[in-house]
Amino acid sequence: MQLALSTWQEVEEYLRTSRGIIIPIGSTEQHGPNGLIGTDHLDAEFVAKGVGDKIGCLVAPTLTIGMSQHHLGFTGSVTLRPSTLMAVVGDVVHSLLRHGFERFLFINGHGGNVATVTAAFDEIYTAISLRGEQSPVRCKMQFWSAGPRCHALAQELYGDANGSHATAGEVSLAQYYQPHAIKHAQMSPKIAPRSNGFFDSADYRRRFADGRIGSDPSLSSPEHGERLYEAAVEDMAELYREFTAD
Ligand code: NI
Repeated sequence: MQLALSTWQEVEEYLRTSRGIIIPIGSTEQHGPNGLIGTDHLDAEFVAKGVGDKIGCLVAPTLTIGMSQHHLGFTGSVTLRPSTLMAVVGDVVHSLLRHGFERFLFINGHGGNVATVTAAFDEIYTAISLRGEQSPVRCKMQFWSAGPRCHALAQELYGDANGSHATAGEVSLAQYYQPHAIKHAQMSPKIAPRSNGFFDSADYRRRFADGRIGSDPSLSSPEHGERLYEAAVEDMAELYREFTAD
């Protein structure tokens, strides 16, 4: 069930039996020579909608732009400042909280969002704690790929060549979701340099010439994407059930 495709009366009806909602969050940033700029938000959205279809929970509109300052050296990448993203997350949660939602599961596609979104959750809790109030609000964020089934499958398919940015797995999932937009490219070197960390966007570009980190996404395929999708939906549905039962 998608918020964007529901009426307000339908949302009121939903709230009679459930207080949970999934919010997909990603980024709009380069994903190497064959990865789409929308990879992170497309993947998060695809899995979130799959969970919504499977177990009937509500899925909010995707937050498509994340904290991606380190990718700005590559054309087409877009970032929010951490302070902007924190404000966006806070406003979205508070809007939905006002209507009665209490459990907010963010299904995430982008590592660069973690520190900022975690800080946004702490802002929400801090405001409640400083007022000395009781509040039912609980926020959680998890990578679509981090559940046990999906993690094991990515290891089986790619091992270390999955990498940590423009991964073979995330490119495969986007290929299954958007088959008309599949790109092909030679990878040179075949496996991109691994990361010892990075600073700003110029530093990132100097270290990772084509944008990838540690990955070989020429291994990607929509068939792999389908398998990763099934595993991720199962993982995230289980996580949602546990989170909303507590
Ligand atoms: Ni990504």
